[in-house]
Amino acid sequence: MAEVRKAVFPVAGLGTRFLPATKANAKEMMPVVDKPLIQYAVEEAIAAGCDQLIFISGRGKRAIADHFDVSYELEIELEKRGKTALLEQVRNILPSHVSTIFLRQPYPLGLGHAVLMARPVVGDEPFAVLLADDLMLSEPPVLAQMVEQYHRYQAGILGVEEIQREHSTRYGVVDARPWDDRIYQISGIVEKPKPEDAPSNLGVVGRYILPARVFHFLEQTQQGAGGEIQLTDAIAHLLNERQVLAYRFSGQRFDCGDKLGYLKATIAFGKLHPEVGADFTQYMDSLCEHQAPVETVL
Ligand code: G1P
Repeated sequence: MAEVRKAVFPVAGLGTRFLPATKANAKEMMPVVDKPLIQYAVEEAIAAGCDQLIFISGRGKRAIADHFDVSYELEIELEKRGKTALLEQVRNILPSHVSTIFLRQPYPLGLGHAVLMARPVVGDEPFAVLLADDLMLSEPPVLAQMVEQYHRYQAGILGVEEIQREHSTRYGVVDARPWDDRIYQISGIVEKPKPEDAPSNLGVVGRYILPARVFHFLEQTQQGAGGEIQLTDAIAHLLNERQVLAYRFSGQRFDCGDKLGYLKATIAFGKLHPEVGADFTQYMDSLCEHQAPVETVL
């Protein structure tokens, strides 16, 4: 079975949940500690063996292309000042064997439409889709876990996690039955169902490995939930033809499209950070120990 070498990053969304921070900035460039969300997703894709990164971008997203480009002036300046460690960091954002392609989604017609834009570049190969606002903390990285399952079962793989039923309106939810360790057979998938209509408590997180055949169905997909062309709906049609499996990944997912999820991610990644992690953990522990009443803190 073909290797998964291409990773699609839909980054055209408006990020309205983070306004005003996202008025002039791409939401994917919001940092968790010192790295933008998109860089975490890119590192995850590369760790899973992808070497062609396809960004589906839109208006106001130039910073993403700049971030992965060489910053000549910055490099000269860092070199002049002898900041070798920082220089290495900015130079190594992308390994040399990895290439990037930026495509534009002219209208924000939905995730399915964004993914369809990648068709001319993806061609007939299987590919991964990563939504950068789903930030993953796991070892091995989530997409690498999924690539392993893809090779084992020779089928498309959707990353899923157990969700609270009342949150079903935020997810694509699969109709699934357990099959193997962490693996579920899927017989259906619905985008953002009401809790009473949700077919299970397994919600799709922003990680997919899909066959190129999904483009055929995306082309025919009409507006669905929220008036958008949904990737979920194309997958639902693909299921009539091919097996697609759900994989309950090992690790933790932070919904960084949401303020609370973003704050939680900052704490989790802050505690693990090689430079500030120890001091930050001590600080967090001291806050918990003192349990000062809110009035005194303010
Ligand atoms: C998208 C998908 C949804 C998936 C979710 C994961 O929704 O449409 O199926 O469960 O990502 O984050 P969005 O969050 O873009 O509304």
